[in-house]
Amino acid sequence: MRGDSVKVGLPMQAGDALTLPNPEPGAEAHSIACRRYIADRIAEAGGALSFAEFMQHALYAPGLGYYTAGSRKFGAAGDFVTAPEVSSLFGYVLARRIAPVIRGLPGAEVLEVGAGSGKLAADVLTRLESLDALPARYLILEISPDLTERQQDYLMARVPELAKRVVWIGSWPAGFRGAVLANEVLDALPAERFVCRGGTCLQQCVSLEQEQFRFMERPAPDRLAARLGELRDSCGGVWPDGYTSEIVPAAREWIADLAGNLSAALVLLFDYGLPRAEYYAAERGEGWLRCHYRHRAHGDPLILTGIQDITTWVDFTAVAEAAVDSGLSVTGFGTQAAFLLAGGLADELEAAGPERSLALSREAKLLTLPGEMGEHFKYLSLLAGDLEPPEMPTYGDQRHRL
Ligand SMILES: C[S@@+](CC[C@H](N)C(=O)[O-])C[C@H]1O[C@@H](n2cnc3c(N)ncnc32)[C@H](O)[C@@H]1O
Repeated sequence: MRGDSVKVGLPMQAGDALTLPNPEPGAEAHSIACRRYIADRIAEAGGALSFAEFMQHALYAPGLGYYTAGSRKFGAAGDFVTAPEVSSLFGYVLARRIAPVIRGLPGAEVLEVGAGSGKLAADVLTRLESLDALPARYLILEISPDLTERQQDYLMARVPELAKRVVWIGSWPAGFRGAVLANEVLDALPAERFVCRGGTCLQQCVSLEQEQFRFMERPAPDRLAARLGELRDSCGGVWPDGYTSEIVPAAREWIADLAGNLSAALVLLFDYGLPRAEYYAAERGEGWLRCHYRHRAHGDPLILTGIQDITTWVDFTAVAEAAVDSGLSVTGFGTQAAFLLAGGLADELEAAGPERSLALSREAKLLTLPGEMGEHFKYLSLLAGDLEPPEMPTYGDQRHRL
């Protein structure tokens, strides 16, 4: 694994000096097809798409988007590495945290949203089995048919017996009871971008000029304008001219959909992000958008269409507010490092034995060190229904920052 492959560090901006590898001919052809598809959507929309619409198509256009087509995304041969790909320790500690919920709640299941390669599912199931806390079913809600197929192949090859418990579902399971896991899903939801000019926040859109995608600005639709006004007021009202950032209305809908389908559940969300005051600080005027291509991070979402990842850091205050508005309780917020350390990381390392300890301690460092994934990545834990709150890390709880 390369040191720059984990999604850490501050987002870079379009125009940052950076050499990106040329796509292979097959990938180039795929990108051209995805560009054509989006160009048609731009024409249909009368000349411009909001950035959120552009991002939605670039990531999820049927058979063409980054997540819905066949390129290798995760791991050394892909574009980036996520915590479960860095180490099985991540999934093992998550399993330890949810085991009491599975054991204590009749009919409890696990629901993983956006399961990537399937590695987290395999790790969580493996450790739940050894903790004698296997759920009857491990549900996966995955938007990408291509990734669903890869998850099925991976789980059948690695844990064939446990894979029999895995069920792929196409929509939220009503009345769900158990534990919900989502790692790096919130950052993959389509974001609106905005730019402040002369005291007004404009919506950043994508148009087509001479076959190239270009940014353009237009007055924000009423709902977005109202939301941006509230946001600016809540952040002290001092965004300078040219201030550019993102807001993810889809995250609010995602949380509302999730909450509306929970009967009793512990929800654990992991992602890179910040509390709102830091996210929208006046000096952070370039926003939080980031693209990933072959282990290079950069700030230009208008290139490599359909073959690069586009993400934004998460405003965790917005997610927590949406959760509370949807009737969930926020039971914890803090760094990934605090979560893993309080959740039994040291016990996992000890249990692994001396022959594996060197490799595993290196992986544990990647997951927890401030310069790696430990600080930028956060967890948010939520509770639904009358579930007895399981013991959660009090170490490093930062809910007061939200
Ligand atoms: C950055 S990847 C993370 C994958 C995996 N969780 C990991 O940590 O390696 C984002 C995942 O979320 C999925 N996804 C994005 N939006 C989704 C949605 N609305 N519902 C379900 N899955 C979604 C993508 O297809 C992909 O599997």
